[in-house]
Amino acid sequence: MADATGFHLKGSAPERYEHYVAPLMAPFVTALVDAADLYPGATVLDLACGTGFAARAAAAQAGPTGRVAGVDLNEGMLKIAVACHPRLYPDIEFTAAPADDLPYPDATFDAVLCQQGAQFFPDLTAALRETARVTRPGGRFAATVWSHPDDSPYFVAQRHALERHGAPEAVAGFRSAFDTADRVITDLGRAGFHSPTRHDLTFDITLPPLEDYIPGHLSAIPWGQSIAETEGEDALTRAADTIRARLPTDTTTFPFTATLVTAVR
Ligand SMILES: C[S@@+](CC[C@H](N)C(=O)[O-])C[C@H]1O[C@@H](n2cnc3c(N)ncnc32)[C@H](O)[C@@H]1O
Repeated sequence: MADATGFHLKGSAPERYEHYVAPLMAPFVTALVDAADLYPGATVLDLACGTGFAARAAAAQAGPTGRVAGVDLNEGMLKIAVACHPRLYPDIEFTAAPADDLPYPDATFDAVLCQQGAQFFPDLTAALRETARVTRPGGRFAATVWSHPDDSPYFVAQRHALERHGAPEAVAGFRSAFDTADRVITDLGRAGFHSPTRHDLTFDITLPPLEDYIPGHLSAIPWGQSIAETEGEDALTRAADTIRARLPTDTTTFPFTATLVTAVR
């Protein structure tokens, strides 16, 4: 059965993740990289890099004299990350490892980015302690985590569909993805980071035509994967129809809010 609480995508889902999640992440990637104050020559880690959205943006900033690494538990995500890396910049080193056991020496990185990953770590304190270990003194940490689902009509519709069509673990997985900024800030302090900041960022994002986008996106996230595995593909289609019915028909533009958290090592 799918584990919907830790964001473990299987099969061909990572490929769909890259395609369908890209529009949702694009403006937040820019804000995340800006917050880390990257510069040519910087050494950067994209923690829980997934298919590498933030790593690719960081490589553009760090330039040919920089070094960018991406680490993620899921080898399927890393396979897509490697395939999508444009090689216009120095190679990004993509490595499979858990956030609480990173394969880098102490004080390796000038900056660590973590986009929509921290809320899924089974032991956030341990992961941030390990992140502190590989960040040089004075180095920067920047992360985004989704704020409350009620901030976006799209997520409200998705939650409604999961409550109607999903098993309890799909609903629990969805809930675990949201509203974790306070926990991240507390654990950053415990892990040895200082000067934390938090800002809510809201972007109006125009999604592709919803008839294709909604089922595609649902099939590219663990709680959609969980519905398909426990209730069948028809249930996934019904869940997508439920989302569509809850959204207005005259627009594909919706607000999305994430909290940007930064800290200094
Ligand atoms: C919502 S995705 C975000 C991926 C990517 N950062 C992005 O911008 O799209 C969450 C990622 O966290 C990874 N992940 C979950 N738990 C992890 C852990 N303990 N250590 C490393 N990666 C983990 C998942 O494999 C997944 O790729």
